[in-house]
Amino acid sequence: MAQSIIEIRGVSKSFGNVSVLRDVNFSIAKGEVFTLLGPSGCGKSTTLRIIAGLEDATAGEVILNGRTVYSSDKRINLPPEKRNMGMVFQSYAIWPHMTVAENVAYPLTLRKLSRAVIAERVMAALRLVDLEAQADRDAPKLSGGQQQRVALARALVYEPEVLLLDEPLSNLDVKLREQMRYELKVLQERLGLTLIYVTHDQAEALSLSNRIALMSQGQVEQIGVPDELYDRPKTEFVRDFLGKTVTIPGRVGAAEGGSARIALGNGAGDLLWTPPPGVAIPAPGSEIKIAIRPERIALSATKAGRENCLAGKIETVLYQGDRTECAVRVGNDLITIYGPPEARTMRDQNVTLVLAPEALTLWPK
Ligand SMILES: Nc1ncnc2c1ncn2[C@@H]1O[C@H](COP(=O)(O)OP(=O)(O)OP(=O)(O)O)[C@@H](O)[C@H]1O
Ligand SMILES: [Mg+2]
Repeated sequence: MAQSIIEIRGVSKSFGNVSVLRDVNFSIAKGEVFTLLGPSGCGKSTTLRIIAGLEDATAGEVILNGRTVYSSDKRINLPPEKRNMGMVFQSYAIWPHMTVAENVAYPLTLRKLSRAVIAERVMAALRLVDLEAQADRDAPKLSGGQQQRVALARALVYEPEVLLLDEPLSNLDVKLREQMRYELKVLQERLGLTLIYVTHDQAEALSLSNRIALMSQGQVEQIGVPDELYDRPKTEFVRDFLGKTVTIPGRVGAAEGGSARIALGNGAGDLLWTPPPGVAIPAPGSEIKIAIRPERIALSATKAGRENCLAGKIETVLYQGDRTECAVRVGNDLITIYGPPEARTMRDQNVTLVLAPEALTLWPK
């Protein structure tokens, strides 16, 4: 990578004899939004705290702008205030007895800047998050979203090179969370901020990130750009954490050119699978599972016939306004797909499922 602002090398962490991080490695480019994603307890916050200097790694190194700020071997450990990183915690950690402006000024007061400089930079930070008008209000009396923006302004006010955000939107209701997600993205792009973002929400990760590191049990499962993780997951864990998947057991049949015919175990026929470049076709007779994201299956009212089409019958419809989720009987499987809104009235109808051939992936049984 051209210019990495942060690099984590071989970071491991144990609390007592409980290992919570194992050999974590990644590097982040300037201006990038890099997200640590994963289920509760996988080690996201611990990784973030090690980067910030709030926690010491048991092994490994943290490098900031080419400078080692932590190394267990070399016994280097720069304190948090010398790493120049802003941090927003999940709980906002707003100071209760202060106004909005006093809250935002706090990190500068600690750094003993002059009053005039502080006043100017506080207003600039409040302008960024659109809270100038609320500067003199009591911080705890603001709404959740406004308090979140105070926390963001407080982290931005001393112009950190890197902003560390630990589930910053998780305390907000859905509408506000989506709005803040959008505002954060706009602000990040406008200021060219480097963000390390922690979340367990896959939609948030997919929409905000330049790259995602998906973690599980203290290890990084896969790092990549969002659509790479979504469309080409390396493990079933990654695939299933990021979204829904339809899987059908099958058996590899004869090769046809560069493709293989897969006989479906549910009695619904067969599909033609073409491996992506560099991937080999398993030996004929191999038991596998074939998978596809539900949104890559189209619903057609005409009869099956073409390649990669399966005949089915709609058993249940769940209308959701922008689409209708349909449970479709295919052979002896029940497959959930996303049909158009009009599918609301198609219960008990015979239909054809058209599977996008390039969206089919093969997995061990
Ligand atoms: N100070 C500590 N002492 C002992 N164990 C800890 C400590 N901090 C974290 N852990 C453990 O380390 C593991 C990872 O915790 P961490 O807070 O990094 O998870 P997380 O991915 O941020 O989870 P969540 O999404 O719930 O916030 C957990 O099993 C947790 O119990
Ligand atoms: Mg956490």
